[in-house]
Amino acid sequence: MSNKSLNPFLTISEIMTAMNSTLDPDQVLEMILDHSIKFCSVESGSLMLLNNKDSILDIVTYRGHNPQIKKDVKLKIGQGITGLVASEARGLIVNDVSKNSDYISIKKEIQSEMAVPMIVEDVVIGVISLDSNRMNTFTEEHLKTVSILANQAALIFKNLQTFRNLEQKNKIQQVLIEIANKVTSSLDMEEVFQSIMELIEKNLKLEKGSLVLYDTVNQNLKLVAAIGISNEEIEKGIYQLGEGIIGKVYDAGEQTYIHSVADDPLFLNRVGYLKHFKNDPKNISLLSTPIISDGQVMGVLSVFLVHQKNSDTKTYLDFLQVVASFISQAIKIHEFVDDAKSQISLENISLKRELQDKYKFGSIIGRSRAMEKLFEKIKLVSDSKASVLITGESGTGKEMIASAIHYNSNRASKPFIKINCAAIPESLLESELFGHTKGSFTGAIADKKGKFELADNGTIFLDEIGEMDLNLQSKLLRVLQEREIEAVGSTKVKKINIRILAATNSNLEEQIAEKKFRADLYYRLNVVNVHTPALRDRTDDIPLLALHFIEKYSKENDKNIKAFTRGVQKILCTYTWPGNVRELENIIERAVVLTQNITLDETDFSEITEKLGVNTVKDIAENFDDSPSNLISFNNLDSIDGKALEIVVGEVESKLIQYALKKFRYTKTRVAKFLGINRNTLDKRIKELNIEY
Ligand SMILES: Nc1ncnc2c1ncn2[C@@H]1O[C@H](COP(=O)(O)OP(=O)(O)OP(=O)(O)O)[C@@H](O)[C@H]1O
Ligand SMILES: [Mg+2]
Repeated sequence: MSNKSLNPFLTISEIMTAMNSTLDPDQVLEMILDHSIKFCSVESGSLMLLNNKDSILDIVTYRGHNPQIKKDVKLKIGQGITGLVASEARGLIVNDVSKNSDYISIKKEIQSEMAVPMIVEDVVIGVISLDSNRMNTFTEEHLKTVSILANQAALIFKNLQTFRNLEQKNKIQQVLIEIANKVTSSLDMEEVFQSIMELIEKNLKLEKGSLVLYDTVNQNLKLVAAIGISNEEIEKGIYQLGEGIIGKVYDAGEQTYIHSVADDPLFLNRVGYLKHFKNDPKNISLLSTPIISDGQVMGVLSVFLVHQKNSDTKTYLDFLQVVASFISQAIKIHEFVDDAKSQISLENISLKRELQDKYKFGSIIGRSRAMEKLFEKIKLVSDSKASVLITGESGTGKEMIASAIHYNSNRASKPFIKINCAAIPESLLESELFGHTKGSFTGAIADKKGKFELADNGTIFLDEIGEMDLNLQSKLLRVLQEREIEAVGSTKVKKINIRILAATNSNLEEQIAEKKFRADLYYRLNVVNVHTPALRDRTDDIPLLALHFIEKYSKENDKNIKAFTRGVQKILCTYTWPGNVRELENIIERAVVLTQNITLDETDFSEITEKLGVNTVKDIAENFDDSPSNLISFNNLDSIDGKALEIVVGEVESKLIQYALKKFRYTKTRVAKFLGINRNTLDKRIKELNIEY
């Protein structure tokens, strides 16, 4: 020991102070090796860390050796002097390597060696090995001092490493908080992604992130936002499903870590990321994470990581997974806002205007071509005295039309008398219509004016005219012809001036054929026919009507509902409405009364969705009678040879998909749900099977 300045105690405290001054665990290893070499005055040395995974000692740093040593020397525990030190957890001095059978030569000049374990909490984490070109270089004092230093270094290293991870984690936590704020700060997806990536790049070692989303129109994956590349480069970012790393991550729905993009043939470098790095592609890793929303993969988030010692990829992957969930949340918010923007709302000025004037006839709402025509007709016939027969399915607004005709006519200020022919017992109907004299029948205790007389100079509306019995039909016909009435029990006739409107939801022509309705009366009533179209034939009117009823029942129930979602619109326009407007009105009323929402959504219309979704196996089977059996004819057998299963199963699958598309009116999410497959798989199969729809 020639160097007097190297007082072991002084050395220890000096070295400890030095090691404590760094926050970089890797630097601690460099320092301890340097100081040990210096303390022992030797030429070379190396520091190995125990790789617990495969019980190998990896050289992490060295002095005075050929760089090849890092690759060549991989000692197993128990192998060589260093390996023995690691397994026995105590230092060894070999003062003449040629005499030691355990010694494995790494450099022929070496004559003596000392190896010391680095121990923390009774666990060997590495070994410091010092070599000398002379024999008998190492003393017990060297061994003791270096051992103390090695253990101290091990402790500092370990602490710093955990500290560094902690620091990374703390930082990550902080970055995540900031990302969470960003997600809700803007409605522009690209802007959100840009700021997320900026945060990541600024605070962590990750670079050049990219966001690829599934494009439902083109059925591929499209780069929608990226950092560190030009817009033209972004345009190039189109990937087929399953293509490259991105396509694979998307398909599998699992994270991936590519240690070196240079070595992975799946890395396509399609947009030309690599040219933006100064680093060797061998030293660039790629971390990709699927973006999943409601169990469905929507896209892939990828970032590069330039190699660093001890970079904690697991933590980064965990981090990216959280970021991906933020992005999926951002996408959801985005879609939600999009949806809210397109909500059909009473606040929508143009709709409101339509509700107020143009598409409203009195209180009859309609903007469809059919209703416009009907309004025209009402205007035309109102002022005439012609009888009008209003026909149409139940609930289509026949009664409303009748009153509109009256109130648009020059008789508007005169009485409008309604009589429901179905609601009054046959025996009483005659007296109801024409009146009776006192004592004309049991219970006729006084003279009573009939509806016709009451309606004099005004309009009488005979609703459900098809229900009137033949006998009364004859009397009615006479009134229409003569324009005079005769009260029951009276012989006096009275001239009247009335306009007659009638309505029915039954087919009077059929009734005429069955001799249940008088043809001559029919022609008298049907001078002008107004037909109210079924609601399913004028779906254009549905949103407007729905809004109208929402407003009406919202007011009635002291609620503040002003809108419904696009989803609701879809449902309402898909349903066939056998009860027409009346049914729509009832359903909206129920929804308004029962909902907790401010905007009605699909959940408020479960009644209809249930009706829409009725699928029975029988229903499907009926659509399958032209099953693929026609394929398996003798003519075709050759052509499917070797691919029979694929073709036949494909045929069935194609039919089933087409069936479901039709059944669910091309709502792909619903179709996918029905088929029990993922939405993206559905798109893929539609494409592969060439299904046109
Ligand atoms: N175009 C419309 N605009 C607004 N409300 C309508 C419209 N059509 C029908 N309604 C409403 O639907 C309900 C049924 O209408 P109405 O009683 O006029 O139908 P109807 O054709 O006479 O039916 P039924 O044959 O069953 O008697 C009423 O509450 C009415 O307010
Ligand atoms: Mg009616």
